[in-house]
Amino acid sequence: MPNNKNETTGLIGWIDERFPLSSFIKNHLTEYYAPKNFNFWYFFGALALFVFVMQILTGIFLTMHYKPDAALAFASVEYIMRDVSFGWLIRYLHSTGASLFFVVIYLHMFKGLMYGSYKKPRELLWLFGVLIFLLLMAEAFFGYLLPWGQMSYWGAQVIVNLFATIPFIGPDLAEWVRGDYLVSDATLNRFFAFHVIALPLALAGLIFGHLIALHEVGSNNPDGVEIKAVKDKKTGIPLDGIPFHPYYTVKDLIGLSVFLIVFASIVFFAPEMGGYFLEHNNFVPANPLVTPDHIAPVWYFTPFYSILRAVPPILNSQFPGVAAMGLSVMIFFLVPWLDKSPVRSIRYKGLLYKKWLTAFVLSFFVLGYLGTVPSNIWGQFNSLLPLLGGGDVATFVARIFTAIYFSFFIFMPYYSKKDKTKKVPNRVTMP
Ligand code: HEM
Repeated sequence: MPNNKNETTGLIGWIDERFPLSSFIKNHLTEYYAPKNFNFWYFFGALALFVFVMQILTGIFLTMHYKPDAALAFASVEYIMRDVSFGWLIRYLHSTGASLFFVVIYLHMFKGLMYGSYKKPRELLWLFGVLIFLLLMAEAFFGYLLPWGQMSYWGAQVIVNLFATIPFIGPDLAEWVRGDYLVSDATLNRFFAFHVIALPLALAGLIFGHLIALHEVGSNNPDGVEIKAVKDKKTGIPLDGIPFHPYYTVKDLIGLSVFLIVFASIVFFAPEMGGYFLEHNNFVPANPLVTPDHIAPVWYFTPFYSILRAVPPILNSQFPGVAAMGLSVMIFFLVPWLDKSPVRSIRYKGLLYKKWLTAFVLSFFVLGYLGTVPSNIWGQFNSLLPLLGGGDVATFVARIFTAIYFSFFIFMPYYSKKDKTKKVPNRVTMP
């Protein structure tokens, strides 16, 4: 074998002398060793990346015809839907992409919680992830105003007014965010700027950081075993590692194919998803003089919206609810330090963690559902409520599940320490 086997010739050689192309491909693909026991849950990071790129591409084409002007925005979206060639497809790809982005991200985060992927040395990888999640929520919120329908308008009105509840600076802050006394053309223009350039740029940077952090420490896996601990003595390659390319590029293509089948089914057969992906009221142009009967955010915000509604005002101020809602997202930042378990993966954790994680997921679903319905949905049962301290049944249920949601995090240091864990094997296990 020639000594200079790593040296390339021809065009690649020419590039390599000026840019680290081959070494990049080696370090991050062909000689990046990922644990050989990845399962279904490990599809979602790659899928998130795919959806991000697709949102950017479809967004570019939407921007070619969209008009960020309060007098023209609604009609420009209708124009895209009816007159622009394949405009309806581009728009449905983008709107469905937004919802599926959150589906993928929630599953991706759940994987992290199941396998303890936030534990040392992956804390920074997790922090990048939570920051991405925060920005993604902002990105979706800004984007939702752009069609300038009734829900766009009143949803933005409600959310921006939340800032007004902050003590002392609140009202001025809300006005500053809006750029006006009410949601208006100025608000639409700045939301457009954030949606199409500021946040996508920031997200791209954070995703880059997320992946650099991932490749620095290496992937975790369903067993939570550190594959770098057992290496081949001669080559130094982890015995339980396989090259990312071709093994996982091919495997991810299978995941992508299934995802695209689901995606296309929604885009072509149910793009509004019964009002969950595109709300019915948003097909009515924004009207600052008519408030819709029931204002609800898109489904992916509803668990947090429920938390906001569940917390009662204090001294007539809604700020406690707003603070609780903010905290319900921010608390994810602390998870690497709240989990005191000696093991990573749920496979080797005890019943306590499993029960708490189940309760947390249940609370997320129940709060998510409650956030989609008017708070007086079970009005006929409200007469029972004097016993429960007043209010309405839905709010009462939301309070219980908000308590469960926060308890998952608050008691984590306690139950993760007390939990009876199993012995972790030295090497990864295969089914
Ligand atoms: C645009 C959003 C995101 C993209 C493109 C993305 C991308 C990826 C990719 C490609 C991987 C490796 C494959 C995999 O483990 O599935 C990964 C791993 C990981 N991500 Fe993300 N991610 C995103 C958001 C998040 C969020 C919101 C969190 C958590 C709050 C997160 C936490 C993690 C963790 C902990 C890992 C390591 C998983 C393990 O090794 O077990 N990511 N991410």
